[in-house]
Amino acid sequence: MIRFIDVSYSYPGGKPVLRNINFSVSEGERIGLIGANGAGKSTLMKAALGLIEAEGIILIGGTAVKKDSLSRIRQLAGFVLQDPENQMFMPRVIDDMVFGPVNYGMTREAAEKEADQILEKLGIPFLRNRYNHKISGGEKRMASIATVLMMDPKVIFMDEPSSSLDPKNRRMLINTLNGLENTLVIASHDLDMILQTCSRVILIDGGEIAADGKAFDILRDRALLESHRLELPLSLQTI
Ligand SMILES: Nc1ncnc2c1ncn2[C@@H]1O[C@H](COP(=O)(O)OP(=O)(O)OP(=O)(O)O)[C@@H](O)[C@H]1O
Ligand SMILES: [Mg+2]
Repeated sequence: MIRFIDVSYSYPGGKPVLRNINFSVSEGERIGLIGANGAGKSTLMKAALGLIEAEGIILIGGTAVKKDSLSRIRQLAGFVLQDPENQMFMPRVIDDMVFGPVNYGMTREAAEKEADQILEKLGIPFLRNRYNHKISGGEKRMASIATVLMMDPKVIFMDEPSSSLDPKNRRMLINTLNGLENTLVIASHDLDMILQTCSRVILIDGGEIAADGKAFDILRDRALLESHRLELPLSLQTI
């Protein structure tokens, strides 16, 4: 479903931020992308979505990510960016949620029905008619997740989806993610969430893959995590 072949990237005038990244993700797999601040997680996601143009080959559902394939990539892959401010562009939450499906031919009525189900599932029906510029950071994040789920894309990339969520919304998010069949790539410092949602973890350091394996094996490996400026998830720490 996702393939990275020798992917490298440097921001203009900067040093390499992604170096020879190679990995494949099968349909339905859930990958946790972990790594210290500045490791390259967000850059890797932006490359997969064609928001930046990396060297090498990236395939999503068999389609190469290139300028002229971006509309196809947008159909295959949805994303929740690290900063939800950049993601909402319609006045109200409900308008954002129905925008994509209506654009692809669904009736407004059917799309609103679908939206109501997703809002209910995420425990945020009260956000339906709220204005995007008048809701809190955590509410915006929940709304941007709801908007992505509306399109039900084959692959969902989420960059720090649990940041700024209160414990109840974080739990809602984890339960929702665990109920999905979509292929998921989740970049996060919330290693407990990764442990609860992902079967596989890719650890990035300095733009390179430092480890790729079973989530539990990597997340309980204190020496490995500490050597890459990370710590054990709280739930695996014994005091
Ligand atoms: N727009 C940009 N221009 C230049 N350099 C950038 C830009 N965005 C990120 N970088 C640099 O690229 C490197 C990787 O950044 P990236 O945002 O991918 O890290 P990250 O792993 O997502 O970190 P975090 O955990 O803080 O979100 C960092 O050294 C960062 O300073
Ligand atoms: Mg980031």
